Amino acid sequence: MDNKYLGLTPPMGWNSWNTFTWEINEQLIMQAADAFVEYGLKDAGYEYVVIDDCWSEKQRDENGRLVPDKTKFPNGMKAVADYVHSKGLKFGMYSCAGTHTCAGYPGSFEHEFEDAATFAEWGVDYLKYDYCYKPDFIPGEVLYKRMAMALRNCGRDIIFSACNWGNDNVHRWIRESGAHLFRSTGDIQDNWESIKNLALSQMGQECYGGNYCHNDIDMLVVGMHGGSNNEWINASGDGAAPKLGGCTDTEYKTHFSLWALMNSPLMIGCDIRKMSEATREILTNQDVISINQDIECRGAYRIKQWNNPENVFSLIKLMSDGSYAIGMFNFGDRTSEMSLQFWDMGLPTASGRGFDMYDCWKHENLGKYSERFVTNIEPHDCLVLRARLVNMK
Ligand code: GLA
Repeated sequence: MDNKYLGLTPPMGWNSWNTFTWEINEQLIMQAADAFVEYGLKDAGYEYVVIDDCWSEKQRDENGRLVPDKTKFPNGMKAVADYVHSKGLKFGMYSCAGTHTCAGYPGSFEHEFEDAATFAEWGVDYLKYDYCYKPDFIPGEVLYKRMAMALRNCGRDIIFSACNWGNDNVHRWIRESGAHLFRSTGDIQDNWESIKNLALSQMGQECYGGNYCHNDIDMLVVGMHGGSNNEWINASGDGAAPKLGGCTDTEYKTHFSLWALMNSPLMIGCDIRKMSEATREILTNQDVISINQDIECRGAYRIKQWNNPENVFSLIKLMSDGSYAIGMFNFGDRTSEMSLQFWDMGLPTASGRGFDMYDCWKHENLGKYSERFVTNIEPHDCLVLRARLVNMK
């Protein structure tokens, strides 16, 4: 690898799966690249345009090489990569550690080195690597090591995005295996319950993520509003039929804040060609993105609200400039107080110091506070603050 900063901070981009699943083609990917530029996603730091599953023919060619679907990608993948690169963006693709991908297309098992060479030839910069149809006789750990070896020696810098859904204690072995990010959860759904459960499942696992190997809580559903063509992703959390997913803009804002503070990669999953203004504002919020992209990638710690510990808590992330990013979340269904004692963050009252607070969603300064910060948070809502230490005297 030439670029020693590859994967330093969580990757940011867009992935076709959440909204489009199998309904992908050359035109869609090119339009997605256009949308990155047109709607300010590129300027906000989003970089990778990633094609997920269902891009290939069902059979390899006579030389054992993967073949792009002739109808969906009539000009091949190099042409798509060239277009994405011409926009100053990076190009991502998808394969699987097993014999087949989750949707039943050829996987890279026993083809790892030739596939890495093919991806390099096509100009791929990012590879998501799934876990379906994995033969039982060989540990997943070995398969991720294989592909990491193949990618790191294919002559091109390629981000390696492992996707084994948190199985087989992946946290314990993935960093040394060579992936730049690892999915720690099952697939997200476009509903509040799913967002909440995925976030909760990774609280306490912060020490496993970090520079060059990020804990991936799954792609974002921000702005999807029930727009997936995949029944499973589009399911409502209550299992009611007809299944209609979708969240409120407040819930999407909370989702984005959680993923940012938890150092997850920020891979957009909605149709970026048709974003509402509210969606665009959420996804391009620089004050929140800069929390996610802080160079040190320190995990956040959690302080629960003493009288509502199940639902209300703060996530606190130490930033490299000495400030703190503080997310205050209400997972419950009633308005609740969050009272953060600075003592719990390490600040003795006797120090004479306090915090100057900046609201990262309203983009305004809230003034100086000593000892504590108390606020009410609406159901499923959050407050994201940037706190700077100041002298109160
Ligand atoms: C798995 C992954 C998803 C997506 C699909 C594609 O379910 O977890 O993110 O890539 O496969 O089939």
